[in-house]
Amino acid sequence: MDKRKIGNLEVTSIGMGCMALSHGYGAIPPEEYSIAAIHTALDYGCTFFDTAEVYSPNMEGIGHNELLVGKALKNHYQEIVIASKLFIKTEEPAQDGSVYATVRRHLEASLKRLQAEKIDLYYLHRVNVNVPVEEVAAAMGKLIDEGLILGWGMSAVSGATIARAHKITPLTAVQNLYNILERGCEEDVFPFCLEHNIGVVPFSPVGSGYLSGKINTNTQFEAKDDVRNWVPQLSKENIAANQPIVDVLNRFAQEKSATPAQISLAWILHKYKNAVPIPGSKNKERIIENLSAWQVKFTAQEFADLEKALASCQVFGHRGHVEDGGSPTEVIAKNVAKREKN
Ligand SMILES: NC(=O)c1ccc[n+]([C@@H]2O[C@H](COP(=O)([O-])OP(=O)(O)OC[C@H]3O[C@@H](n4cnc5c(N)ncnc54)[C@H](OP(=O)(O)O)[C@@H]3O)[C@@H](O)[C@H]2O)c1
Repeated sequence: MDKRKIGNLEVTSIGMGCMALSHGYGAIPPEEYSIAAIHTALDYGCTFFDTAEVYSPNMEGIGHNELLVGKALKNHYQEIVIASKLFIKTEEPAQDGSVYATVRRHLEASLKRLQAEKIDLYYLHRVNVNVPVEEVAAAMGKLIDEGLILGWGMSAVSGATIARAHKITPLTAVQNLYNILERGCEEDVFPFCLEHNIGVVPFSPVGSGYLSGKINTNTQFEAKDDVRNWVPQLSKENIAANQPIVDVLNRFAQEKSATPAQISLAWILHKYKNAVPIPGSKNKERIIENLSAWQVKFTAQEFADLEKALASCQVFGHRGHVEDGGSPTEVIAKNVAKREKN
Protein backbone atom coordinates (compact mmCIF):
# COMPACT_ATOMS: atom_id res chain seq x y z
CA MET A 1 0.00 0.00 0.00
CA ASP A 2 1.20 3.56 -0.55
CA LYS A 3 1.96 5.81 2.40
CA ARG A 4 0.90 9.27 3.54
CA LYS A 5 1.96 11.68 6.24
CA ILE A 6 -0.55 12.86 8.80
CA GLY A 7 1.31 15.45 10.84
CA ASN A 8 4.58 13.73 11.70
CA LEU A 9 3.19 10.18 11.45
CA GLU A 10 3.55 7.99 8.38
CA VAL A 11 0.61 5.66 7.68
CA THR A 12 -0.85 3.73 4.78
CA SER A 13 -3.13 5.94 2.70
CA ILE A 14 -6.14 3.95 3.96
CA GLY A 15 -6.52 2.72 7.52
CA MET A 16 -8.88 0.35 9.27
CA GLY A 17 -11.70 1.54 11.50
CA CYS A 18 -12.23 -1.15 14.13
CA MET A 19 -15.43 0.21 15.73
CA ALA A 20 -17.93 -2.18 14.10
CA LEU A 21 -16.18 -5.14 15.72
CA SER A 22 -17.58 -3.80 19.02
CA HIS A 23 -20.37 -1.35 18.29
CA GLY A 24 -22.56 0.45 15.82
CA TYR A 25 -23.36 -1.94 13.01
CA GLY A 26 -25.37 -4.74 14.60
CA ALA A 27 -24.24 -8.01 16.15
CA ILE A 28 -20.56 -8.21 16.90
CA PRO A 29 -18.54 -11.19 15.67
CA PRO A 30 -16.87 -13.73 17.98
CA GLU A 31 -13.51 -12.54 19.31
CA GLU A 32 -11.38 -14.96 17.24
CA TYR A 33 -13.14 -13.79 14.08
CA SER A 34 -12.55 -10.13 14.92
CA ILE A 35 -8.87 -10.71 15.68
CA ALA A 36 -8.54 -12.56 12.36
CA ALA A 37 -10.30 -9.65 10.61
CA ILE A 38 -7.79 -7.16 12.05
CA HIS A 39 -4.97 -9.52 11.01
CA THR A 40 -6.42 -9.60 7.49
CA ALA A 41 -5.85 -5.84 7.25
CA LEU A 42 -2.40 -6.15 8.85
CA ASP A 43 -1.39 -8.91 6.43
CA TYR A 44 -2.55 -6.79 3.49
CA GLY A 45 -0.11 -4.12 4.66
CA CYS A 46 -2.37 -1.69 6.51
CA THR A 47 -0.43 0.22 9.17
CA PHE A 48 -3.15 2.48 10.61
CA PHE A 49 -5.77 1.21 13.05
CA ASP A 50 -8.49 3.22 14.76
CA THR A 51 -10.25 2.48 18.03
CA ALA A 52 -11.71 4.41 21.01
CA GLU A 53 -12.28 3.79 24.70
CA VAL A 54 -16.04 4.08 24.20
CA TYR A 55 -16.49 1.42 21.48
CA SER A 56 -18.35 -1.30 23.35
CA PRO A 57 -21.54 -3.25 22.59
CA ASN A 58 -24.55 -0.90 22.85
CA MET A 59 -22.14 1.73 24.21
CA GLU A 60 -22.53 0.02 27.57
CA GLY A 61 -19.24 -0.21 29.40
CA ILE A 62 -15.88 0.90 28.18
CA GLY A 63 -13.00 -0.67 26.34
CA HIS A 64 -14.34 -3.70 24.48
CA ASN A 65 -12.75 -2.57 21.22
CA GLU A 66 -9.45 -1.51 22.77
CA LEU A 67 -9.13 -4.92 24.44
CA LEU A 68 -9.77 -6.61 21.11
CA VAL A 69 -7.36 -4.39 19.20
CA GLY A 70 -4.76 -4.95 21.93
CA LYS A 71 -5.04 -8.72 21.58
CA ALA A 72 -4.78 -8.48 17.79
CA LEU A 73 -1.99 -5.91 17.54
CA LYS A 74 0.11 -6.05 20.72
CA ASN A 75 3.01 -7.73 18.91
CA HIS A 76 2.91 -5.26 16.01
CA TYR A 77 3.07 -1.83 17.61
CA GLN A 78 6.54 -1.24 16.17
CA GLU A 79 5.17 -1.55 12.63
CA ILE A 80 1.85 0.28 12.92
CA VAL A 81 0.21 3.50 14.05
CA ILE A 82 -2.49 2.99 16.65
CA ALA A 83 -5.10 5.68 17.29
CA SER A 84 -7.54 5.84 20.18
CA LYS A 85 -9.87 8.46 21.69
CA LEU A 86 -11.17 9.73 24.99
CA PHE A 87 -14.15 11.76 26.11
CA ILE A 88 -13.98 14.01 29.18
CA LYS A 89 -17.11 14.38 31.30
CA THR A 90 -17.71 17.78 32.90
CA GLU A 91 -17.07 16.71 36.49
CA GLU A 92 -13.91 14.68 35.86
CA PRO A 93 -11.22 17.43 35.93
CA ALA A 94 -12.43 18.68 39.33
CA GLN A 95 -12.49 15.13 40.67
CA ASP A 96 -9.01 14.35 39.35
CA GLY A 97 -7.47 17.71 40.20
CA SER A 98 -6.80 18.91 36.62
CA VAL A 99 -7.62 18.28 32.97
CA TYR A 100 -4.14 16.77 32.62
CA ALA A 101 -4.83 14.28 35.42
CA THR A 102 -8.10 13.25 33.76
CA VAL A 103 -6.56 12.80 30.33
CA ARG A 104 -3.66 10.85 31.84
CA ARG A 105 -6.03 8.57 33.77
CA HIS A 106 -8.02 7.79 30.61
CA LEU A 107 -4.81 7.27 28.65
CA GLU A 108 -3.34 4.87 31.21
CA ALA A 109 -6.54 2.79 31.15
CA SER A 110 -6.44 2.68 27.34
CA LEU A 111 -2.75 1.72 27.34
CA LYS A 112 -3.51 -1.15 29.68
CA ARG A 113 -6.36 -2.44 27.53
CA LEU A 114 -4.29 -2.04 24.36
CA GLN A 115 -1.27 -3.69 26.03
CA ALA A 116 0.76 -0.79 24.68
CA GLU A 117 3.46 1.48 26.06
CA LYS A 118 2.30 4.48 24.06
CA ILE A 119 -0.56 5.55 21.82
CA ASP A 120 0.64 7.03 18.54
CA LEU A 121 -2.37 9.26 17.98
CA TYR A 122 -4.68 10.18 20.85
CA TYR A 123 -7.86 12.07 19.99
CA LEU A 124 -10.35 14.03 22.00
CA HIS A 125 -13.41 12.14 20.74
CA ARG A 126 -15.87 14.99 21.32
CA VAL A 127 -15.41 18.51 22.59
CA ASN A 128 -17.19 19.05 25.90
CA VAL A 129 -17.96 22.78 25.99
CA ASN A 130 -17.38 22.71 29.76
CA VAL A 131 -13.77 21.58 29.33
CA PRO A 132 -11.73 24.20 27.45
CA VAL A 133 -9.94 22.75 24.43
CA GLU A 134 -6.90 24.86 25.35
CA GLU A 135 -6.53 22.88 28.58
CA VAL A 136 -6.93 19.59 26.73
CA ALA A 137 -4.30 20.72 24.21
CA ALA A 138 -1.90 21.63 27.03
CA ALA A 139 -2.45 18.22 28.66
CA MET A 140 -1.78 16.47 25.33
CA GLY A 141 1.41 18.50 24.92
CA LYS A 142 2.63 17.30 28.29
CA LEU A 143 1.84 13.67 27.40
CA ILE A 144 3.78 14.08 24.14
CA ASP A 145 6.75 15.42 26.14
CA GLU A 146 6.47 12.41 28.46
CA GLY A 147 6.52 10.02 25.50
CA LEU A 148 3.15 8.49 26.35
CA ILE A 149 1.62 9.65 23.07
CA LEU A 150 3.33 10.61 19.82
CA GLY A 151 0.70 13.05 18.61
CA TRP A 152 -2.82 14.18 19.32
CA GLY A 153 -5.99 15.06 17.51
CA MET A 154 -9.62 16.04 17.82
CA SER A 155 -12.78 14.52 16.41
CA ALA A 156 -16.00 16.12 15.19
CA VAL A 157 -14.63 19.65 15.34
CA SER A 158 -14.91 22.86 13.38
CA GLY A 159 -11.99 24.77 11.89
CA ALA A 160 -12.32 27.48 14.53
CA THR A 161 -11.92 25.02 17.40
CA ILE A 162 -8.99 23.29 15.72
CA ALA A 163 -7.29 26.70 15.41
CA ARG A 164 -7.74 27.43 19.14
CA ALA A 165 -6.26 24.10 20.19
CA HIS A 166 -3.49 24.07 17.56
CA LYS A 167 -2.08 27.30 19.01
CA ILE A 168 -1.38 25.52 22.30
CA THR A 169 -0.16 22.13 21.03
CA PRO A 170 -0.02 21.48 17.28
CA LEU A 171 -2.45 18.76 16.21
CA THR A 172 -1.37 15.68 14.26
CA ALA A 173 -4.80 14.87 12.85
CA VAL A 174 -8.48 15.70 12.87
CA GLN A 175 -11.00 12.88 12.61
CA ASN A 176 -14.27 14.15 11.15
CA LEU A 177 -17.19 12.81 9.18
CA TYR A 178 -16.32 13.18 5.52
CA ASN A 179 -17.49 11.42 2.40
CA ILE A 180 -19.16 12.15 -0.94
CA LEU A 181 -22.44 12.87 0.86
CA GLU A 182 -20.97 14.89 3.73
CA ARG A 183 -18.80 17.77 2.51
CA GLY A 184 -18.88 20.12 5.51
CA CYS A 185 -15.13 19.72 6.12
CA GLU A 186 -14.32 21.23 2.75
CA GLU A 187 -15.29 24.68 3.99
CA ASP A 188 -12.96 25.26 6.91
CA VAL A 189 -11.41 22.01 8.18
CA PHE A 190 -9.45 20.91 5.10
CA PRO A 191 -8.12 24.41 4.32
CA PHE A 192 -6.87 24.92 7.89
CA CYS A 193 -5.39 21.43 8.13
CA LEU A 194 -3.64 21.65 4.76
CA GLU A 195 -2.09 24.96 5.75
CA HIS A 196 -0.91 23.71 9.14
CA ASN A 197 0.32 20.19 8.26
CA ILE A 198 -2.54 18.42 10.04
CA GLY A 199 -3.87 15.15 8.65
CA VAL A 200 -7.60 14.66 8.15
CA VAL A 201 -8.94 11.19 8.93
CA PRO A 202 -12.42 10.90 7.44
CA PHE A 203 -14.72 8.63 9.42
CA SER A 204 -17.68 6.86 7.78
CA PRO A 205 -15.93 7.34 4.41
CA VAL A 206 -18.21 4.81 2.72
CA GLY A 207 -21.28 6.62 4.05
CA SER A 208 -21.97 3.83 6.57
CA GLY A 209 -22.13 1.41 3.66
CA TYR A 210 -24.45 3.44 1.42
CA LEU A 211 -21.71 4.43 -1.02
CA SER A 212 -20.93 0.75 -1.65
CA GLY A 213 -24.20 0.60 -3.59
CA LYS A 214 -25.20 -2.46 -1.58
CA ILE A 215 -27.89 -0.73 0.49
CA ASN A 216 -31.36 -0.30 -0.99
CA THR A 217 -34.87 0.43 0.30
CA ASN A 218 -35.35 -3.25 1.18
CA THR A 219 -32.25 -3.38 3.36
CA GLN A 220 -33.19 -4.28 6.91
CA PHE A 221 -30.68 -3.01 9.45
CA GLU A 222 -30.28 -5.08 12.60
CA ALA A 223 -32.60 -4.01 15.41
CA LYS A 224 -29.91 -3.85 18.07
CA ASP A 225 -26.98 -1.41 18.11
CA ASP A 226 -27.07 -0.52 14.42
CA VAL A 227 -26.69 3.27 14.13
CA ARG A 228 -28.16 3.14 10.66
CA ASN A 229 -31.65 2.76 12.11
CA TRP A 230 -31.49 6.42 13.12
CA VAL A 231 -29.19 7.99 10.55
CA PRO A 232 -31.51 10.36 8.63
CA GLN A 233 -29.55 9.81 5.42
CA LEU A 234 -30.50 6.14 5.56
CA SER A 235 -34.26 6.55 5.87
CA LYS A 236 -36.06 4.67 3.07
CA GLU A 237 -36.94 8.00 1.37
CA ASN A 238 -33.36 9.23 1.38
CA ILE A 239 -31.95 5.85 0.30
CA ALA A 240 -34.20 6.11 -2.76
CA ALA A 241 -33.61 9.84 -3.33
CA ASN A 242 -29.81 9.49 -3.30
CA GLN A 243 -29.81 6.68 -5.90
CA PRO A 244 -28.44 9.00 -8.64
CA ILE A 245 -25.22 9.28 -6.61
CA VAL A 246 -24.92 5.49 -6.43
CA ASP A 247 -25.58 5.38 -10.18
CA VAL A 248 -22.61 7.73 -10.74
CA LEU A 249 -20.42 5.53 -8.53
CA ASN A 250 -21.53 2.40 -10.35
CA ARG A 251 -20.71 3.99 -13.70
CA PHE A 252 -17.21 5.03 -12.63
CA ALA A 253 -16.67 1.68 -10.91
CA GLN A 254 -17.36 -0.06 -14.18
CA GLU A 255 -15.06 2.26 -16.11
CA LYS A 256 -12.21 1.83 -13.61
CA SER A 257 -12.73 -1.91 -12.97
CA ALA A 258 -13.33 -1.07 -9.33
CA THR A 259 -16.23 -1.17 -6.90
CA PRO A 260 -18.39 1.80 -5.85
CA ALA A 261 -16.89 1.67 -2.34
CA GLN A 262 -13.41 1.86 -3.86
CA ILE A 263 -14.42 4.82 -6.04
CA SER A 264 -15.71 6.62 -2.92
CA LEU A 265 -12.42 6.07 -1.10
CA ALA A 266 -10.24 6.88 -4.12
CA TRP A 267 -12.26 10.11 -4.53
CA ILE A 268 -11.17 11.19 -1.03
CA LEU A 269 -7.54 10.23 -1.66
CA HIS A 270 -7.41 12.13 -4.94
CA LYS A 271 -9.13 15.21 -3.56
CA TYR A 272 -6.95 15.80 -0.50
CA LYS A 273 -3.31 14.79 -0.09
CA ASN A 274 -3.60 15.00 3.72
CA ALA A 275 -6.64 12.68 3.95
CA VAL A 276 -6.42 9.12 5.24
CA PRO A 277 -9.87 7.49 5.35
CA ILE A 278 -10.59 4.69 7.82
CA PRO A 279 -13.40 2.52 6.40
CA GLY A 280 -14.90 -0.02 8.77
CA SER A 281 -16.12 -3.50 7.95
CA LYS A 282 -16.72 -6.76 9.76
CA ASN A 283 -16.31 -8.64 6.51
CA LYS A 284 -12.80 -9.82 5.61
CA GLU A 285 -13.34 -9.58 1.84
CA ARG A 286 -14.63 -6.02 2.18
CA ILE A 287 -11.72 -5.07 4.42
CA ILE A 288 -9.41 -6.02 1.55
CA GLU A 289 -11.71 -4.41 -1.02
CA ASN A 290 -11.60 -1.12 0.86
CA LEU A 291 -7.86 -1.16 1.52
CA SER A 292 -7.24 -1.98 -2.16
CA ALA A 293 -8.85 1.32 -3.14
CA TRP A 294 -5.36 2.85 -2.88
CA GLN A 295 -4.70 1.30 -6.30
CA VAL A 296 -7.56 3.18 -7.96
CA LYS A 297 -6.03 6.30 -9.49
CA PHE A 298 -7.86 8.97 -11.48
CA THR A 299 -6.41 11.12 -14.22
CA ALA A 300 -7.16 14.82 -13.81
CA GLN A 301 -9.83 14.52 -16.51
CA GLU A 302 -11.45 11.45 -14.93
CA PHE A 303 -11.57 13.17 -11.56
CA ALA A 304 -13.06 16.32 -13.08
CA ASP A 305 -15.72 14.18 -14.78
CA LEU A 306 -16.50 12.41 -11.51
CA GLU A 307 -16.77 15.71 -9.63
CA LYS A 308 -19.04 17.12 -12.32
CA ALA A 309 -21.29 14.06 -12.26
CA LEU A 310 -21.50 14.17 -8.45
CA ALA A 311 -22.17 17.91 -8.45
CA SER A 312 -25.21 17.34 -10.64
CA CYS A 313 -26.78 15.18 -7.89
CA GLN A 314 -28.57 16.66 -4.92
CA VAL A 315 -27.80 15.05 -1.55
CA PHE A 316 -30.82 14.12 0.55
CA GLY A 317 -30.54 13.81 4.34
CA HIS A 318 -27.53 13.96 6.59
CA ARG A 319 -25.74 11.50 8.83
CA GLY A 320 -25.82 13.87 11.76
CA HIS A 321 -24.48 17.37 12.27
CA VAL A 322 -20.84 17.24 13.24
CA GLU A 323 -19.67 20.32 15.05
CA ASP A 324 -18.10 21.09 18.38
CA GLY A 325 -20.21 19.55 21.10
CA GLY A 326 -22.79 18.85 18.40
CA SER A 327 -24.69 15.69 17.72
CA PRO A 328 -23.07 13.28 15.31
CA THR A 329 -25.08 10.16 14.94
CA GLU A 330 -23.27 8.16 17.54
CA VAL A 331 -24.05 10.91 20.04
CA ILE A 332 -21.23 9.57 22.13
CA ALA A 333 -21.31 12.34 24.68
CA LYS A 334 -25.07 12.07 25.05
CA ASN A 335 -24.95 8.33 25.51
CA VAL A 336 -22.25 8.61 28.13
CA ALA A 337 -24.32 11.20 30.00
CA LYS A 338 -27.46 9.04 29.71
CA ARG A 339 -25.63 6.05 31.12
CA GLU A 340 -24.35 8.11 34.01
CA LYS A 341 -27.88 9.23 34.84
CA ASN A 342 -29.37 5.71 34.85
N1 LIG B 1 -14.71 9.87 15.46
C1 LIG B 1 -15.96 9.49 15.38
O1 LIG B 1 -16.84 10.10 15.98
C2 LIG B 1 -16.32 8.28 14.58
C3 LIG B 1 -17.66 8.02 14.24
C4 LIG B 1 -17.92 6.89 13.47
C5 LIG B 1 -16.89 6.06 13.06
N2 LIG B 1 -15.61 6.33 13.43
C6 LIG B 1 -14.48 5.50 12.99
O2 LIG B 1 -14.53 5.42 11.56
C7 LIG B 1 -14.56 4.06 11.16
C8 LIG B 1 -15.39 3.91 9.88
O3 LIG B 1 -16.66 4.53 10.02
P1 LIG B 1 -18.03 3.74 9.90
O4 LIG B 1 -17.79 2.31 10.20
O5 LIG B 1 -19.03 4.48 10.68
O6 LIG B 1 -18.47 3.95 8.41
P2 LIG B 1 -18.10 3.34 6.97
O7 LIG B 1 -16.72 2.81 6.95
O8 LIG B 1 -18.47 4.40 6.01
O9 LIG B 1 -19.15 2.17 6.79
C9 LIG B 1 -19.21 1.03 7.58
C10 LIG B 1 -20.41 0.21 7.14
O10 LIG B 1 -20.39 0.07 5.73
C11 LIG B 1 -20.31 -1.28 5.34
N3 LIG B 1 -19.26 -1.38 4.34
C12 LIG B 1 -17.97 -0.95 4.46
N4 LIG B 1 -17.29 -1.21 3.34
C13 LIG B 1 -18.15 -1.83 2.51
C14 LIG B 1 -18.03 -2.35 1.20
N5 LIG B 1 -16.88 -2.31 0.55
N6 LIG B 1 -19.12 -2.93 0.63
C15 LIG B 1 -20.28 -2.97 1.30
N7 LIG B 1 -20.46 -2.50 2.55
C16 LIG B 1 -19.40 -1.94 3.14
C17 LIG B 1 -19.98 -2.09 6.58
O11 LIG B 1 -20.69 -3.29 6.54
P3 LIG B 1 -19.97 -4.75 6.67
O12 LIG B 1 -19.37 -4.81 8.03
O13 LIG B 1 -21.09 -5.69 6.48
O14 LIG B 1 -18.96 -4.79 5.55
C18 LIG B 1 -20.46 -1.19 7.71
O15 LIG B 1 -21.79 -1.50 7.98
C19 LIG B 1 -15.09 3.31 12.38
O16 LIG B 1 -14.69 1.97 12.40
C20 LIG B 1 -14.49 4.09 13.52
O17 LIG B 1 -13.18 3.63 13.78
C21 LIG B 1 -15.32 7.44 14.17
